[in-house]
Amino acid sequence: MAARPYIVGNWKMNGTRAMLSQARAIDRAAQNMMKVEVALAPPFTLLHAVHREVEQIGVGAQDCHPGADGACTGDVSATMVADAGAKFVIIGHSERRRDHGESDELVARKGVAALQAGMRLILCVGETEETRDDGQAEAFVTAQLKASLPATLESPAESLTVAYEPVWAIGTGRTPTVEDIGAMHGAIRAVLVDLYGAEEATQVRILYGGSVNADNARELLSAKEVGGALVGGASLTAESFLGIVVAAAEPVES
Ligand code: 13P
Repeated sequence: MAARPYIVGNWKMNGTRAMLSQARAIDRAAQNMMKVEVALAPPFTLLHAVHREVEQIGVGAQDCHPGADGACTGDVSATMVADAGAKFVIIGHSERRRDHGESDELVARKGVAALQAGMRLILCVGETEETRDDGQAEAFVTAQLKASLPATLESPAESLTVAYEPVWAIGTGRTPTVEDIGAMHGAIRAVLVDLYGAEEATQVRILYGGSVNADNARELLSAKEVGGALVGGASLTAESFLGIVVAAAEPVES
């Protein structure tokens, strides 16, 4: 695992102000586990409240619109989420690609907007089960990555995290083998080295996401080239999320 593992909770469409106590508890515990970088991506409605509630952990948004402002009812711009306290934005999550028809090209434009607003990116990629069964997973994910990277990204070491989230592993309790994760992360790293050079690319953390929990985190985080985890369901309570943070703080040697 990379020098400082990065554990990010994606709350998805979950959480009202009642959940602020969970964010507080996660933040307090993270203050005693400085070996791990911890962050939360709450829904837009809680972004500013979580930002005000925490001292140590990072806070980010789950999406942003590619435009600056204007007549886009219901949308939220990168400048707005940055103003609410977001330091990063998740782009290209498979649920947005699936439910909102987001193309690689749109994801890349969202990345441009987020960088312009001074935020870091967590760019998600991942194959469906059908694509994996066809033996096309690496070809698909590497092509998706190349097409989703924002054209204006100059320093990936500073601004980019990639999250490999196989669609079939999200919320299903199923996970790839440690070998399969290592192979995919190696392929992602090779793309980054090719595009940005080894010095920049080796500093980019590549997270694994999909059914990570406190019981399997230690093993999943031991896979080659895994720099942390993007966690959905298990990030919704401080207890289960902190189990993953503890696992990241004390990795097994692979
Ligand atoms: P789960 O951890 O619930 O499988 O979700 C993973 C995910 O999509 C995080 O972005």
